[in-house]
Amino acid sequence: MNKGRFLMLLVCCQLFLLACDSQPSGKDEIDVKVENLLAQMTLEEKVGQMNQYNGFYDVTGPAPAEGDAKNKYEHIKSGWVGSMLNVRGANEVRKMQSLAVDSSRLGIPMIFGFDVIHGHKTLSPIPLAEAASWDLEAIEKSARIAAIEASAEGINWTFAPMVDISRDARWGRVMEGAGEDTYLGSRIGVARINGFQGDDLSAHNTIAACAKHFAGYGFAEAGMDYNTVDVGTVTLHNVIFPPFKAAIDEADVKTFMNSFNIINGIPATANKFLQRDILKGEWGFDGFVISDWSSGAEMIAHGYAKDLEHVAELATNGGSDMDMESYANIKHLVKLVEAGKVKESTIDEAVKRVLRVKYELGLFDDPFKYCDETREKELIYHADHMAAALDMAKRSIVLLKNENNVLPLAKEQKKIAVIGTLADDKDSPLGNWRMAGEDNTAISVLEGLDAYGVNYKYAEGAELVTGPTAFPVELEINTTDKSGFKEAIALAKQSEVVVMVLGEHGLHSGEGRGRANLGLPGVQQELLEAVYKVNKNIVLVLMNGRPLTITWADEHVPAIVEAWQLGTQTGHAVAQVLFGEYNPAGKLPMTFPRHVGQVPIYYNQYSSGRPGPKTEVFWPHYMDESEKPLYPFGYGLSYTKFDYTDLNINVLEGRKVEVSVVVTNSGDRVGEEVVQLYLHDKVASVVRPVKELKGFEKISLEPSQTYKVVFTLSEKELGFYNGQGEFVVEPGDFGVMVGTSSVEGLTSEFELK
Ligand code: BGC
Repeated sequence: MNKGRFLMLLVCCQLFLLACDSQPSGKDEIDVKVENLLAQMTLEEKVGQMNQYNGFYDVTGPAPAEGDAKNKYEHIKSGWVGSMLNVRGANEVRKMQSLAVDSSRLGIPMIFGFDVIHGHKTLSPIPLAEAASWDLEAIEKSARIAAIEASAEGINWTFAPMVDISRDARWGRVMEGAGEDTYLGSRIGVARINGFQGDDLSAHNTIAACAKHFAGYGFAEAGMDYNTVDVGTVTLHNVIFPPFKAAIDEADVKTFMNSFNIINGIPATANKFLQRDILKGEWGFDGFVISDWSSGAEMIAHGYAKDLEHVAELATNGGSDMDMESYANIKHLVKLVEAGKVKESTIDEAVKRVLRVKYELGLFDDPFKYCDETREKELIYHADHMAAALDMAKRSIVLLKNENNVLPLAKEQKKIAVIGTLADDKDSPLGNWRMAGEDNTAISVLEGLDAYGVNYKYAEGAELVTGPTAFPVELEINTTDKSGFKEAIALAKQSEVVVMVLGEHGLHSGEGRGRANLGLPGVQQELLEAVYKVNKNIVLVLMNGRPLTITWADEHVPAIVEAWQLGTQTGHAVAQVLFGEYNPAGKLPMTFPRHVGQVPIYYNQYSSGRPGPKTEVFWPHYMDESEKPLYPFGYGLSYTKFDYTDLNINVLEGRKVEVSVVVTNSGDRVGEEVVQLYLHDKVASVVRPVKELKGFEKISLEPSQTYKVVFTLSEKELGFYNGQGEFVVEPGDFGVMVGTSSVEGLTSEFELK
């Protein structure tokens, strides 16, 4: 190249670099726009962005008296409403949005939030069931489809995923999370957010996600919803926080929701430590925080705020940016700023966060981009969505017991009895938190068997009371009516195999649906035992939104299939698993207790000072029940068999450890296996759990096929948070287990220098 051309190239390069330099990036551009808009806003309009109103249906909590429709319309037109929840349908959203865009002074679009929890109209399995798949790709796809359907109905923000870790099956909301484990919960939370938000948030078919409930909500004492949370800093930093932090670091989640509970004496909604120091400070979260439904006003009952004005002051200063259904901000924030109790700069900071997300969604470019009736018609219940929901449903099923290979059943099998009212239910399998879902739209188990061409006879056996449906709440979930027993017993007597579909109704779990008993509700246990007396060849298909204490069934019944609440495609999924068209591969995301008295029970416990020998009285155990779980975390069988060999550990430079294992399908069917890696930091400055999941891989193997799984552990997996919330990696000895569940695998150890 001659000198002249070289100089020319140099100049061109410099010009190009200059151009890049002066051109603000997408984020910077948005910041400029946000600042410009903010400069034009009155204090009232700013406060409006911190206010969310509920639509006119789907109330999920007590509705305040002020919530009448007329006020809301006027407030929207005045620019005092930044967001609505529970408005859906392209047409409805357009009408509401045009009030804000066409009638308010600055025409700032509203953001429309909705609980899109497990699917939207096409319902996928409840989140706890999806978690049992350990299949991140399928889970992300499920959230993607939910976003496609929700955005076609005008929605651009979901209040999901719930990433609360919970170890207490009594808590009704375990159905909405990913179970008891922080590592699995973090991975699943990230997958869900990626599914909702996609690659491009400004696209018309992606929606903003919300990591909730920050923080500690899943640790409500005694598993009772809304109850007090009191946890130490080590649990907070190592168990509760990581899924929230991963939501920011790994998925750029746009919003957070705080929670109803107090945590260590301070309500989460006004908790500066959580929202200002950790979330917006240490973690650098730049989205916005919404309160939970009236969680602001509830600080009065907690004894933290004296009145609603105090609520607005405490919540806003505490880092809560938008008020859902407390009516505190809209009523009091302007006054509070004028009185100097809340700084205008604090309001500005909150408003900027809200506006930024609206810009990122592209709402300022086209506020009506989610309101397209053609898309709505085409996409809701799309055949591809149904197919994906079926795939997800099959992946969520866990085979808990299969003595003498009772399963899979043969289609040609004569005389199959199906017993249990849940088998004939088209509603319960949809589960709770299916806000846009239409009642009775699930394929029931009976319909699934029909479609699969199975000959069977059916008896209801016992009815199941629905549980709380609306306000006022009906608490009774049990029935004492045994009039159906006779027919069921007679049918069982003349059958070769009895498929019993028992469990909870879909509305026995979810918000406000705590249970102090974890057995089968109503007379179902009696029904099971009565049928067993005449026919022992029972396949129990469980439908439930939480772990249940099915200890008797485990001792007696030869085959048990955990089928949760699997959504729209339930019946097809169950039929395909029962008859072997699909080989189940799910693994439990939550420990099943033997007895409710063991709860909270979870696999990653600390060792007591007296782990054994277990020959005397004075060690941690019960006198009247085993201390062991019924089914441990990570457990689940297959119709084939997987052998683990050749566990190998390599400590590498730079604090990396490579762990490999060879897995062989030694059975005669193709099958999937979730290979799980658990670590134990044996001696540390803060005592570490006896084992912790730190890696997993789901593999599919043909009969006789062998596969080597390699995990690479880095500081992230090897370290932990100490009592000061600092992340530390300490040298020393580590135990490793790689296997098929949290209690079964090959073990070895290594030393970290
Ligand atoms: C729940 C939230 C939900 C909100 C809006 C509250 O009762 O706790 O998780 O997003 O209602 O429906």
